[in-house]
Amino acid sequence: MPTLNRSHLESLLKQEEALFHKNHPKSYGLYQQARKSLHGGVPMLWMVRWAGSFPVFVKEAKGAHFTDVDGNSYIDFCLGDTGAMTGHGPEATVKAITEQIQKGITLMLPYEDVIWVGEELQRRFGLPYWQFALTATDANRFVLRMARMITERPKILVFNYCYHGSVDETFIILDEEGTPISRPNNMGPQIDPRETTKVIEFNDIAALETALASRDVAAVLAEPAMTNIGIIHPDDGYHDTLRELTRKYGTYLIIDETHTICAGPGGYTASHSLQPDFLTLGKPLAGGVPAAIYGFTEEVSRAFADKMNLDDADVGGIGGTLAGNALSIAAMKATLQHVLTDEFYAKAIALQEKFTAGVETVIAEFNLPWIVKRLGNRSEYWFRPTPPRNGGEAAAAVDHELDRYMHIFSLNRGILMTPFHNMALISPETTQEDVDYHTKVFREAVQSLLD
Ligand SMILES: Cc1ncc(COP(=O)(O)O)c(C=O)c1O
Repeated sequence: MPTLNRSHLESLLKQEEALFHKNHPKSYGLYQQARKSLHGGVPMLWMVRWAGSFPVFVKEAKGAHFTDVDGNSYIDFCLGDTGAMTGHGPEATVKAITEQIQKGITLMLPYEDVIWVGEELQRRFGLPYWQFALTATDANRFVLRMARMITERPKILVFNYCYHGSVDETFIILDEEGTPISRPNNMGPQIDPRETTKVIEFNDIAALETALASRDVAAVLAEPAMTNIGIIHPDDGYHDTLRELTRKYGTYLIIDETHTICAGPGGYTASHSLQPDFLTLGKPLAGGVPAAIYGFTEEVSRAFADKMNLDDADVGGIGGTLAGNALSIAAMKATLQHVLTDEFYAKAIALQEKFTAGVETVIAEFNLPWIVKRLGNRSEYWFRPTPPRNGGEAAAAVDHELDRYMHIFSLNRGILMTPFHNMALISPETTQEDVDYHTKVFREAVQSLLD
């Protein structure tokens, strides 16, 4: 590929930003109004980081599409960054929510449906015991507490450039010399994360053994394939070694399936026969209604029960008044039973293969030094010629300006990609025409860079 002309990119970006402004007058007006009551004019600060100088205000979303307050229509490849991987408002989930809402929303007591959910989770993920939370962040926080409590070890281990939600102790990366540092912009950490956490590169077996050998690590918290710094697949045999070494040194293995549930009905764990001690999952589980789960082995269940004083169960650091509420459980049951089915994955993965092939064709046509990687119904293109093996390599290829341009170019032509990276999720509500349209727009974006 001819080298990217930065001043050309800068002027293209300005052009697209002006077009964005012109096509979103109502969103702009609402943003100005929102700034008077909401910090930054948005409910969550990262919403101002989208491409465009203000956020698009949504009118309505259904399936794989939505419209904004200005009457623009979009194909949604972001799908709530996996929270709406089911497609927006899946019929069975909406029906269950509508019925449950008449019968109680939250009680601090179980309804019978929760047993169906527990048994279904056993069937899908192969772990015998389950608990509920409201977010994947909380599920991760809770299992880390359990692992520390049982093992009485002070540290956890994560991979460079991982993301597991706003779990305080995971905000640590390796600097260019490979030294652990607090992740830049780690906001007001209560403690230096180096005191709680070891960080190594994914796919680095020697570093893993060194880190675990001192037997002070309670748990490894891992996505089975990394998804938050592009998609990074494990090397062949890496998971076998990870399991072997964690067992050898008495460290628990936590698999976070929050994004990798895109790999199949039982996530990456079931599709690759992994054997974690704990498994966590949130986001799409209840069709977008806040819900998360964490499961664990018989051994963990027994060891936890032995150390647990039930009198402290409500104030011991694992909590959430609304966790396991009736509405979330009803939504979860309907979503697992009728939406996130084998058929769902067969259709969405087949379409994702076409999406990825479309991107690959354009990369080949223009001889771009870019790659696209797929995992189930998720794919992501990355600005480097070869697949990264770890977070450090992937992070080195981040190009914020180019990223912003690709996003706003798509947005101006009715395509929403997942922000802050170039990820696309496909639901069975996405159509072949949507995929073909994306290939066309992606090609136009690339072509414009080279004009
Ligand atoms: C792998 C992974 N785990 C956990 C989370 C946290 O999810 P939530 O923000 O819904 O708590 C995320 C969020 O992106 C994630 O990517």
